[in-house]
Amino acid sequence: MNSASEKFKDFITDLNKIKDYFLKIIDEKKYLIKIYTHLDADGLSAGAILGKILYKKNIPFQITVLKQLELDNITKIHNETESGDYFLIFSDFGSGQYLELQKNINNPFLIFDHHLPQNIKNKEEIDKIQEIYKDTYKWHINPYFYGFDGSTEISGSGMCYFFAKCIDKKNTDLSKIALVGANGDVQNQGDNKSFIGLNQIILDDAKENDIIEILDDINLSRIKPLNQALAYSPELNLPGLNKDPNKTLKFLKRLGILMEKGDGSIITLIDLNKEEKQKLTSALIEYISIKSNIDPSEIINKLIIKRYLLKDEKIGSDLHDISDFSNMLNSCGRTNNASIGIAIAMGDRNKAYVQAIKNLENYKRMLLNALTWIKEENIIKEEEFIQYFFGADKISENIIGTITSMLIHDDTEIIKKNKPLFGYAIRMEEGMYKISSRAHESIVEKGINLSEAIREALILSNLENLGGGHPPAAGTKVPIEKIGDFLENCNKIIGRQLK
Ligand code: C5P
Ligand code: C5P
Ligand code: ZN
Repeated sequence: MNSASEKFKDFITDLNKIKDYFLKIIDEKKYLIKIYTHLDADGLSAGAILGKILYKKNIPFQITVLKQLELDNITKIHNETESGDYFLIFSDFGSGQYLELQKNINNPFLIFDHHLPQNIKNKEEIDKIQEIYKDTYKWHINPYFYGFDGSTEISGSGMCYFFAKCIDKKNTDLSKIALVGANGDVQNQGDNKSFIGLNQIILDDAKENDIIEILDDINLSRIKPLNQALAYSPELNLPGLNKDPNKTLKFLKRLGILMEKGDGSIITLIDLNKEEKQKLTSALIEYISIKSNIDPSEIINKLIIKRYLLKDEKIGSDLHDISDFSNMLNSCGRTNNASIGIAIAMGDRNKAYVQAIKNLENYKRMLLNALTWIKEENIIKEEEFIQYFFGADKISENIIGTITSMLIHDDTEIIKKNKPLFGYAIRMEEGMYKISSRAHESIVEKGINLSEAIREALILSNLENLGGGHPPAAGTKVPIEKIGDFLENCNKIIGRQLK
């Protein structure tokens, strides 16, 4: 195997070839560029980066946002593009469908994706991946071709970012959007939530451009009232304080932290000075170690995180911290407001931003209602190796993935971290269930691979639908009458993976 720097060189060489091909073909013929991208934060970031490259070069383009690139989407794209002068770009999906695209799309196209290619079970199938590379590298760019991990070290928007950088070095200002996308895909998986691998190169570009500030900070919301941030922290387990903002208020007051600002509003994490933060950190370490007998080094790894702040965004706004930024994009994508998300990621801070803020409130309420319903009604079912739930008429397919993610990443009592969680929601018009599965990193480390499990379960259940994703997060759709079969097969496969 080549060294990482050689692999990176190969990656950039291929990207440059794709760039030359792209610039030549659009110079020869007046194509309209049609970008198809995924609706989550990474997909919207990817679409915005591509849009921005083309906008800067005065090349006309359109962006279409899809829930997923399924077979019927591909047929539809074929029908709407075959008779026109369109050049197509697929971002944050396309690798998992490359054979279908090759078969069905007559127009020229490119794929910038970070998912495992179609028919590949896991990244260890190196020979098969190399075969695909040889067949497709002229129009298909994917991290696994070069031995990079698309699940942990580079996102769809990151792949588009490297293309942007090949087009013009000045595009390194887009590094911030690529990091927003990576954050949306939960790729800040290094120690204390740092970025690793190719994402780190993007981070270096952002630093060089002086557009990012990295803070070691307490792992709490920066914009919620501090007592609420502490009480409702999704990641800190504080026995006796969780979900009780009155108790956390007393806890903070006892530390001598003044909770009210001059104007009467309650302080947030941002308002604390260095000394107060230090005091709070020590108090939390002490509290957690007494109450839950966890090793202090483990506590610190969870309690202190890298915070990535965008220097050119307003302090305290929903876009200043990349993690709030990606949440904002997600809220747009998942409430049928994807174009607002794209506009924001492309730089609109006026109309689109105002609308997005309003929308964010609805989105948060929607998620909260769904989570409350799941907890109060005891919706989660358990098999030997998996857990699952049905969203019924309470959770739409647009947010089933987000809810499943929140449940698995949150420290809630109702979800077991040692079993993957499958959520499904109805897609009435097709008679199908949309499936979203998530696994906690602790079992991914032990060999759980949901992308592989879903692809195998589809075959075992005699289904031809496309599916896949990453080891910790994967999805597909399944006919209503097949759901029992499918989940049973998932259960079997996960059991095998655990052994
Ligand atoms: O299609 P894409 O790769 O962009 O989407 C990955 C999805 O999986 C994101 O919505 C992300 O939030 C979710 N995810 C997760 N837990 C992980 C990794 C990804 O919930 N550990
Ligand atoms: O839709 P959901 O958020 O559950 O998707 C989780 C991951 O699985 C994402 O990376 C998504 O792109 C991928 N996925 C896929 N093929 C599907 C459905 C989801 O690759 N048919
Ligand atoms: Zn992605």
